[in-house]
Amino acid sequence: MNESARKKHSAYMEWAKTRSHAKFNLATSGLLNFPFKEFPLQLENIELTAPGGYGYEPLMERLARHTGVPQECVVTATGTSLANHLAMAAVLDPGDEVLMELPVYGPILDVAEYLGACVKRISRRFENGFAIDLAELKKAITPNTRLIALTNLHNPSGALIPAETMRAIGELAQRVRAYVLVDEVYLEMLFGRSAPFCFPIGEALGDDGENPFIVTSSLTKVYGLSGLRCGWILASPALAKRMWLLNDLFAASPVHSAERMSVMALDHLELFRERARTLLAANRALLDAFLDSRSDLQCFRPPAGTVVFPRLTRGDPHAFFKLLRDKYETTVVPGAFFEMPQYFRIGIGGDTPGLRAGLERLGAALDEFARS
Ligand SMILES: Cc1ncc(COP(=O)(O)O)c(C=O)c1O
Repeated sequence: MNESARKKHSAYMEWAKTRSHAKFNLATSGLLNFPFKEFPLQLENIELTAPGGYGYEPLMERLARHTGVPQECVVTATGTSLANHLAMAAVLDPGDEVLMELPVYGPILDVAEYLGACVKRISRRFENGFAIDLAELKKAITPNTRLIALTNLHNPSGALIPAETMRAIGELAQRVRAYVLVDEVYLEMLFGRSAPFCFPIGEALGDDGENPFIVTSSLTKVYGLSGLRCGWILASPALAKRMWLLNDLFAASPVHSAERMSVMALDHLELFRERARTLLAANRALLDAFLDSRSDLQCFRPPAGTVVFPRLTRGDPHAFFKLLRDKYETTVVPGAFFEMPQYFRIGIGGDTPGLRAGLERLGAALDEFARS
C-alpha cells in the first residue's frame, strides 16, 4: 500500500517515550507524579461504567467550578493532548491557515500538520523574553487565518503572555473571525498570583458575542496527575457541542473510573497544589543558583513553571547532549525538538535531590565540554 504524505507521528513524543529516560532526568515537563498510595481515594465511590451521555455530570460540575466557566462551555478530553487534537480538528479543514508560535510544543504543530492545515509561524525570540510580538502577529494574520495557536505558560521557555496581550490577540482574531487556541496546561503554576486565564478575557471582548478563545488544559502538569488523563476544553457553547459530537469519532467515551478519580482529585485540589508549590519553591532556588553560576548559558527566567530553555553559547549541541547522556547519565530535551537546536529544555518538576544531582552533572558536563 502507498504511504500517505500526511504527517502521522510526533518525533518529540516518540523521543520522550523511548529516549528521554536517564538516571538523572531533566527532560520532564510536569510535576513529579503523585504517589497512588497518598491519593485521596474513596474506593466506595469508584464505578466502572458511566451513566452515558455527553460528560459525566459530577466531573462537568467540578470543571465548570474550577475554571469559572459555564458548564455548556466545557468539554472533557483525554489529557490536554487529545484536547488540543479535538479543538483543532473541530475548527480546521485541510488547507486552513494557522498561525503558530515558534518555538512550540511539538505535538501541537504535528496535529495541525496531520489535519492538513497550512501553518505559518510567529517567532517568540529569546532577545525579547519569548514574548508574543503583536506587530509581527498583525502582519501575519489574514482574512484566511482560521486559528492562532499558543501556549501560556509557553513551552519550552515558560514565558507568560500577559492579559493585555491576550486581549489584543483576541481582538485581532475576532476581526478576521479566527479562533485562538491557548494551551494553558502550565498556567495554574502561578498559584495565588492572578493568572491571565484567557476564556474570561474573550467573554469580555463583546463584538458579535462569540468568544474567540479556545482553552485546553488538564490536571497533568501542575498537580502530578498525568495518569488520570483529566483534560478539558473551554469553548463557546456551539463550538463545544461540535467538539462533543466530533469526539464520538475519536475516544467516544472516557475511562469512567478515571473520571471518578478526577472528581476526587478536584475535591482535594489544595492537597496537590500545596505539594506542587512547596516542591517548586525548593527546586526553583536550585535552578536559580545553577543559572547564576554559568556564564556559558544564556537563559530567560520565567515567572513560574517547571521548564526553562537556555541557550548553549558555544559548541555543537549534539556533541554536548551525547556527552551529557553517555558520561553523565543525564538528559535534557534537545532544542531541535523545538526547532531551535542551540537551545535545550530543563525540567525542574522532579524530586529535589534528583534535580540537585542532575544540575551538578549538567554543570560538570558543561565544564568538560568547554575544555574539549
Ligand atoms: C504545552 C503542552 N500541552 C499538552 C501537553 C500534554 O499534556 P497532557 O498530559 O494533559 O496530555 C504537554 C506535555 O508536555 C505540554 O507541554
